Amino acid sequence: MMQDPLRAICDDNLERRWIWVTLIMTFVMIAILGAYAVASNLHPPSNVETIDSSRLHLSEEFAEDNLGVKKNADGSLTVTMVAARYGFFPPVIEVPTDTPVTFRVASADVLHGFHVPFTNAATMVVPGYVSEVHTSFPAAGKYSFLCNEYCGLGHDSMWSRLIVVPKSAAGDES
Ligand code: CUA
Repeated sequence: MMQDPLRAICDDNLERRWIWVTLIMTFVMIAILGAYAVASNLHPPSNVETIDSSRLHLSEEFAEDNLGVKKNADGSLTVTMVAARYGFFPPVIEVPTDTPVTFRVASADVLHGFHVPFTNAATMVVPGYVSEVHTSFPAAGKYSFLCNEYCGLGHDSMWSRLIVVPKSAAGDES
């Protein structure tokens, strides 16, 4: 039988067995996480773009009048939102199905989360940074934006509405 490689660091049989158990558990958990990330098409947010969170209202992009859904030249959408205690602004967002959507979210105060359950849209919204999420929604319906980082007493009620309408019904008003 092959010599146990752990013999080099440990003489005790029982102890070596437990070291193997923890090593195998570690690799099984990493494999599950990896398979889940691939199967659910998760992309770790990697956008690094800074912004002065205390002056969002004075910025061009995140000023109150400029928030919401914007149509890009290539037909994709950019949705600009502010996360602040305790809500996302604007509070209702409507986008069509099967259209590339880029969410750009900035926090006006503390750390928030940005999560649309049952989709792969999820990121932290760290004050001082612009969080960016690229996604599209294959199924029409009503979804919620949820905050999933504890941000204060109103955290539990920090959510907004995302309405995904069938592409054909979305019209061309924007
Ligand atoms: Cu915002 Cu929790």
